[in-house]
Amino acid sequence: MDRPDEQPRAVESLSAGELIALRTLLADLGQAARRYRFEVAPNPCVGACVLSSGVEIGRGFHLEFGGPHAEVQALRAAAKSGVPRERWDTLVCTLEPCSTEGKTPACRDAIAEAGLRRCIVGELDPDIRHRGLGLKALRERAVEVTLLSGASPLGQVSPHFLSWTRPERLRRKRPWTIAKWAQTRTGQLRPPSDLGEGRWISGPSSLAEVHQLRARVDAIVTGRGTVLADDPRLTVRLPAFTADPPIRVVMDALLRTSPGARLFENPGEGEAGGAVHIIARAGVDPRRARELHRVGATIHTVRSGDDGQPSLREVQGLLWALGVRRVLVEAGPTLLTSCFRAEFVDQVRVYTGAINGGEGGGLAEWLAPERLLEAEHAEVGVDARLDAFVRS
Ligand SMILES: NC(=O)c1ccc[n+]([C@@H]2O[C@H](COP(=O)([O-])OP(=O)(O)OC[C@H]3O[C@@H](n4cnc5c(N)ncnc54)[C@H](OP(=O)(O)O)[C@@H]3O)[C@@H](O)[C@H]2O)c1
Repeated sequence: MDRPDEQPRAVESLSAGELIALRTLLADLGQAARRYRFEVAPNPCVGACVLSSGVEIGRGFHLEFGGPHAEVQALRAAAKSGVPRERWDTLVCTLEPCSTEGKTPACRDAIAEAGLRRCIVGELDPDIRHRGLGLKALRERAVEVTLLSGASPLGQVSPHFLSWTRPERLRRKRPWTIAKWAQTRTGQLRPPSDLGEGRWISGPSSLAEVHQLRARVDAIVTGRGTVLADDPRLTVRLPAFTADPPIRVVMDALLRTSPGARLFENPGEGEAGGAVHIIARAGVDPRRARELHRVGATIHTVRSGDDGQPSLREVQGLLWALGVRRVLVEAGPTLLTSCFRAEFVDQVRVYTGAINGGEGGGLAEWLAPERLLEAEHAEVGVDARLDAFVRS
């Protein structure tokens, strides 16, 4: 798009040495910001720093979905530097600062209020609804803006954000969906029956990490099969967690979930559980709906898809309408396979435990390298962890 506000300005006022230094800084910030890509998605990875007479005095990154933006983090870091505010002059940011309020206040205001006179921006917002507006808002607040495209290209720093903001994708609103599961070394999601009571496929370090992941989503979705087999609570168990916990959603076509399931119990000490929603097929038995409503569930019905199950397309629309923007699917192979087939999985988190064998099918076909983008492998205790985006 070619709005006047997107035109680079004042580049000519920078010396050749300054230009090289700023491009190097932008490339470095972009590279460092990528470290948080799986925590912030679908938001972009963004890095920012505050300069005082060309010297970096504080840098910050967008660290997690819903958390403060990189610009705000950089301003906070600068505040700790000891350099007086009147000597701060420039904010360098890999992506155009936001002009609208979302989960956090708009960055344009934070930058202007900090008294910064200049903003160097690496890339324009690719979202056509916002593109150029952040720069315009900064100029209106008397901040001189320079666009230095190419040093931290979005195609390298945040390819997931480029595809998420494609106009044809934006037309149908749906939450970003993360599929998470644990599998044995041989790929099964159900452990061998002789594993022993109280033991899981993944170890305690992985189980602890899952609570951090849960804390960063708006909804946890599971299937009736998992509720029946594992009777999970789907709560967040983190010591310092004070935010609204994610809602808990059970996909249950015929409302066969037991009203005695642990999901309906009050969360215990140190755990936070969101409201329980059950999604069924249209035309379900109203008596079952009443029973589940009595124990606290909100019942929704949607049309059936081609497979006779509640249409996942409708479910995505429903979740969006409930204010859900980031979903974690923690289900068995049946629901996870349906989500993959419907092309609703945007990101995967897979723990492979130190256990061989197991029962039932696996999801190996969805982890073929050609289906994934930016895969990252790590060790978590005795388990292996895979994070990746799913190619759309
Ligand atoms: N390793 C792991 O990470 C992990 C995680 C969770 C579960 N598990 C294991 O997985 C096993 C349960 O597997 P599962 O596959 O039966 O459970 P699931 O995938 O959680 O639940 C499947 C059920 O969800 C309901 N459903 C409603 N709408 C659906 C839709 N659109 N698409 C697909 N399903 C829909 C269906 O039951 P209705 O027709 O009755 O609605 C379906 O049978 C258990 O052994 C459990 O321990 C493992």
